[in-house]
Amino acid sequence: MSETQGAVVTRGLTRRFGAITAVDDLDLDIKRGTIYGFLGPNGSGKTTAIRMLAGLLSPNAGDIRVLGLAIPRQVGKLRHRIGYMTQRFSLYEDLSVRENLAFIASIHTVPRDSVRHRIEELIDTYHLSEQRHQQAGTLSGGQRQRLALAAATLHYPELLFLDEPTSAVDPESRRDFWDKLFDLAEAGTTILVSTHYMDEAERCHELAILDRGRLAAQGKPRGMMDDIPARVVQVTTSRPRHAARRLKQAKSVIGVTQVGDLLRVQVDLAEDDPAGCVQRVLSESGLEGDSREIPANLEDVFVTVTGRDRATDRQGEPA
Ligand SMILES: Nc1ncnc2c1ncn2[C@@H]1O[C@H](COP(=O)(O)OP(=O)(O)OP(=O)(O)O)[C@@H](O)[C@H]1O
Ligand SMILES: [Mg+2]
Repeated sequence: MSETQGAVVTRGLTRRFGAITAVDDLDLDIKRGTIYGFLGPNGSGKTTAIRMLAGLLSPNAGDIRVLGLAIPRQVGKLRHRIGYMTQRFSLYEDLSVRENLAFIASIHTVPRDSVRHRIEELIDTYHLSEQRHQQAGTLSGGQRQRLALAAATLHYPELLFLDEPTSAVDPESRRDFWDKLFDLAEAGTTILVSTHYMDEAERCHELAILDRGRLAAQGKPRGMMDDIPARVVQVTTSRPRHAARRLKQAKSVIGVTQVGDLLRVQVDLAEDDPAGCVQRVLSESGLEGDSREIPANLEDVFVTVTGRDRATDRQGEPA
């Protein structure tokens, strides 16, 4: 693997825990200055992959290059060039906002004469002025997230690992958080961010969908939607739950996602007339309704490549 290739390059990256293969033969190419997303169900290997890329966990097999360094062998040279925001809040709850940042600065040996200025700059950028003397443990979810991002970026890392940085944060704070990520990317920082939110995944320059440790799909979100290995049919019916159950049993149906009273049905590419096929299932089940083909969104891609009905599963399967 050449050093000029990208911020992160892996080949055959694999990590097992006992009988579980948490990361399975993963090939990644993450270009410098991009926001790259990891999307995948719980337990699909996102955190494990990030920990290996950050040099905190050794792989069982495979090669890793991060910022041109062979990991884990050259991890000592990597430490000060990356930032890592862990999935769980990992700052000191009994230190104030300012004290936490000062502590992180000391770890990264930020020069003494610029520390004060850098901390003030971060407190300002991440809207933490009013909380500067508040203990981190008493901050709201969104404030904690902003403090964690401030801490992860304090030493101007070239590469940022953000593991589900916006879980439990309201939509406005998430938007604000993403504005900050785009500012960082524009300034040249490469960002690897894991998420469960489709809207966030869609905002990434490139994306990997992980499933059971494997790469289920990779590419630009737009391209993934254009090249989805399925066709999508929208169904309007007065009995969406009943229709969803029937459709799921149909041979050419990959998945069914309910959105309000509408259904999005992902249909196998082998089916020539997907809307007709869906309409037939409805009539055979004695259901009235209307079916028409629509463009795919990212959730359709997710369901198709992982074979998981996330939206329907989230609502629970009625008996
Ligand atoms: N230290 C460990 N020991 C044993 N098993 C582990 C360990 N770390 C992770 N695993 C297992 O590896 C698999 C992948 O876990 P991982 O935390 O990487 O998933 P994830 O995609 O980050 O999930 P989530 O979305 O829930 O954060 C899971 O089955 C998990 O139980
Ligand atoms: Mg995780």
